[in-house]
Amino acid sequence: MASTLMAVSLVGCGASTSAGTPAPAASEAPAATAEAAPAATAEAAAAATDGDLSTKKVGVCIYQFSDNFMTLFRTELENYLISLGFSKENITIADGANDQATQTNQIDTFITDGVDVLIINPVNSSSAATITDKVVAANIPLVYINREPDESEEARWKDNGWKVTYVGCDARQSGTMQGEIIADLGLDAIDFNKNGKVDYIMIEGDPENVDAQYRTEFSVKALTDKGLEVNCLSDQVGNWDQTQGQQLVANALGQFGNDVEVVFCNNDAMALGAKQAIADAGRTVGKDIYLVGVDALTEVCEDVLSGAITGTVFNDHIAQSHSSADAAVNFLTGKTNEYYIGCDYVKVTKDNAQSILDSLK
Ligand code: BGC
Repeated sequence: MASTLMAVSLVGCGASTSAGTPAPAASEAPAATAEAAPAATAEAAAAATDGDLSTKKVGVCIYQFSDNFMTLFRTELENYLISLGFSKENITIADGANDQATQTNQIDTFITDGVDVLIINPVNSSSAATITDKVVAANIPLVYINREPDESEEARWKDNGWKVTYVGCDARQSGTMQGEIIADLGLDAIDFNKNGKVDYIMIEGDPENVDAQYRTEFSVKALTDKGLEVNCLSDQVGNWDQTQGQQLVANALGQFGNDVEVVFCNNDAMALGAKQAIADAGRTVGKDIYLVGVDALTEVCEDVLSGAITGTVFNDHIAQSHSSADAAVNFLTGKTNEYYIGCDYVKVTKDNAQSILDSLK
């Protein structure tokens, strides 16, 4: 753990977190369109008749099993694939252990084993072109999930008519919703130190991930769009991780004390860490500080209900896992998919946290 914490880098307030990275593809993404176009060719029609999914082999690559959100995603994905008729023994899910070289080996093994379709949550989205090339060369359809490859990569799938698609949500929406949850409280309620500004700290996910970049940017934008003046006290990378989130927030509270009015976390795992750090510092969410995350993990929805966390944003792992399985089935049965399959986020506050919890049961 010590070495991981030491590797944490400082992003810096006001710095464009997406600086130096290619424009994220989601800016071109159409609205949610999960509908698959019907198969047109005779070959596709023939393939469509071979609809016995129980013999089809599915390879799934997850960037890191220890990620809370991806654990929900992969569990739902496996269950849903089975409900569609795939056999449990034909579904193999590999842990990339947050290492692209490890994941690339796993993809090579899946190709050698002759899987019928691959569902990949890349460790590094920037490795997508290399991954796509080898999977397409092996004539295996490919569904990317959760970590969106860049625009030029997605354009190649379309230009070449490859059986490749991406399933995910537009992270700008989740960032905006986080900011709105805070803005809706009104400056008077937020501005404990009465400097006329929203003083915040930002805890970011993996900076290579467009979800982290957009949530960081759009949460703050939602505040300024509502005419609020903002003051970033600290902006750091917690890599989606609860322990790192806790440490970073503890440090920031130690450094900036009561001036910290809002803690933005790019995901709920880090928000859970932040919650602990806030309690350890003797602060109280809703009374002298606010805290928001993204994902709507069960524990966080319960915290929103009790007031221990101000709000979160539902990252619909159920819709996303189902859409990715459905896209895989479309490819396997000779149908095609859109090249981007979207999904809406849902803002979660005390008002609807119970209904979100009920929907997750
Ligand atoms: C989720 C995070 C998760 C990340 C993994 C994001 O969409 O909000 O919780 O760690 O995906 O890539």
